[in-house]
Amino acid sequence: MCGIIARVGETDDAVDELLVGLENLEYRGYDSAGLAVKNGRGPTVFKREGQISNLKDLLATEVPAGGLGIGHTRWSTHGPPTDANAHPHTGCSDRVAVVHNGIIENHDELRTELRERGHTFQSDTDTEVIPHLVEEQLADGATPEQAFRRTIRRLSGSYAVAMLADDSDAIYATRSGSPLVLGVRDGKYFLASDVPAFLDFTDEVIFLDDGDVVVIEPGQHEITTLDGEAVERPTQIVDWDPEDAGKGGYEHYMLKEIHEQPTSLRQTLRGRADPTTGDVILEDFPSGTFEGIRRVQFVACGTSYHAGLVGSHFIGSRGLPAQTFLASEYAVSAPPVDEETLVVGVTQSGETADTLSALRRAEAGGARTLAVTNVVGSTAARECDDALFIRAGPEIGVAATKTFSSQVVSLSLLGERLVRDAVGRRSDDVQDVLSALSDLPDHVQRILDYTKAHRIAKRYYDCDSYFFIGRGSVYPVALEGALKFKEISYEHAEGFAAGELKHGPLALVTPATPVFAVFTGRHDRKTLSNVKEVEARGAPVVAVASETNEEIVQYADDVLTIPDTHPDVAGILANVQLQLLSYHAAAQLDRPIDKPRNLAKSVTVE
Ligand code: F6R
Repeated sequence: MCGIIARVGETDDAVDELLVGLENLEYRGYDSAGLAVKNGRGPTVFKREGQISNLKDLLATEVPAGGLGIGHTRWSTHGPPTDANAHPHTGCSDRVAVVHNGIIENHDELRTELRERGHTFQSDTDTEVIPHLVEEQLADGATPEQAFRRTIRRLSGSYAVAMLADDSDAIYATRSGSPLVLGVRDGKYFLASDVPAFLDFTDEVIFLDDGDVVVIEPGQHEITTLDGEAVERPTQIVDWDPEDAGKGGYEHYMLKEIHEQPTSLRQTLRGRADPTTGDVILEDFPSGTFEGIRRVQFVACGTSYHAGLVGSHFIGSRGLPAQTFLASEYAVSAPPVDEETLVVGVTQSGETADTLSALRRAEAGGARTLAVTNVVGSTAARECDDALFIRAGPEIGVAATKTFSSQVVSLSLLGERLVRDAVGRRSDDVQDVLSALSDLPDHVQRILDYTKAHRIAKRYYDCDSYFFIGRGSVYPVALEGALKFKEISYEHAEGFAAGELKHGPLALVTPATPVFAVFTGRHDRKTLSNVKEVEARGAPVVAVASETNEEIVQYADDVLTIPDTHPDVAGILANVQLQLLSYHAAAQLDRPIDKPRNLAKSVTVE
């Protein structure tokens, strides 16, 4: 879990552009940052523990000139965040500099072997074996490219690697199991872990595949397999505006992304739903229709898991058996699958290692696989039989917000399509659902315009614990509300199925534990009984409910209202209120909202 950036150009201002790239990548890890730049002589390395501002301070007195450079932001996996463990890494001779994202699984063996041959190591990282292996090859007379290829052959695990060497004017890079994309503009190149890293400089992108080796010099690049066979990768234009990747005037990316939801939801829905006819028009999947699918399994982590739970509730209640699994558990105790099983990986990044493992396991068992993801060209999108893109646009805040909403909308559309193909009929309420989905962008805008989440956050931000409850389609929303709250406020929060409180958690309920209860218009009476149970123990209750639901207003201390809608769509609206609540509570507590401690945006290790 880290971010890689590289730049190749004729002008010797690589450092300026690398720093921009590093800032765009900082959400992938902020334990340390570093870069190496080359100008005729061997690579010169600058690196510092902590945020990029520390690296900038180091470069403040003298910005090194050079046209070629590599950079890295680190999220620690091997060794603590220190200057020594920051990338780039060099070997004993400083002839090479390497940045790496992923995990080299056989690094212990390689390190022992290298030590026996006299190498001394400066860091605790798995990465450092790479420059040592390369410099041995160089000392044996290999060219930098040969040395790079031979070294990569020795590695097992997941990696995206970029390397500079003193004897060449090229950057050498490859990927296997970790993301790496190439940006191109008028003979200038960028390599990065994701597209927003270089969006300030180009929108022309080449998505590299696992096993691709790319050699980049000013004005030219070559992509080959590890064995040197040429491969063709198309150049694609991405329509993400660099503005989209900036904060756009909001104090935090998270707030900006919450406010982007009317737009992102319009993008998700565009051309895909016709409420008048009840038609769902998804792109054609290369594997064809879902006729013959008898069961659906969702695999996902964190917020995406909660979206999966909404999806399986939606599909299951329309007659097609569906379940959602935590990907990390699925990978170790997978339920049986066959060719009549569709396994859907829900992953906004498309790079989450646990989800990829679960999908690979399903594929090996003979299931059909589908990725529901935000990132075109991501590993999940490429490895699955089919992909459905949620079109939410780049999400920079570590806490997922707009991608959750777009995931749930995408899964509802997919659900309708699955039921039609697999069960052979439209669901009874398809027109109502599509109409409610089409109204979502305007409904979310209304919430953003009139929410009192900031006032409620101010009232309750200093309590012992926070509980979130919901039933049926909004049980996952209760889980998601609690996850978001704890993730960015660092306060203890738990989500429960409303009916479960009385089976244990009620023991924790006191006047210092506010309970946020989510209502949809379905099963409300039962949830209201649960509200009365917590009120009897003195807990303040905040209801998230339809603006027309007068009964609930009577019982709750406060209400976060949502526009009236279909019960299966209400959860998306309720969740927007809860996103705002978490955001404002974390702001009250002065937390680093976009970069919560110990977390990173894309978790590419199991
Ligand atoms: C929480 C959050 C995480 C992710 C999880 C899966 O706000 O963002 O829980 O949802 O790490 O990530 P993806 O969807 O990229 O697979």
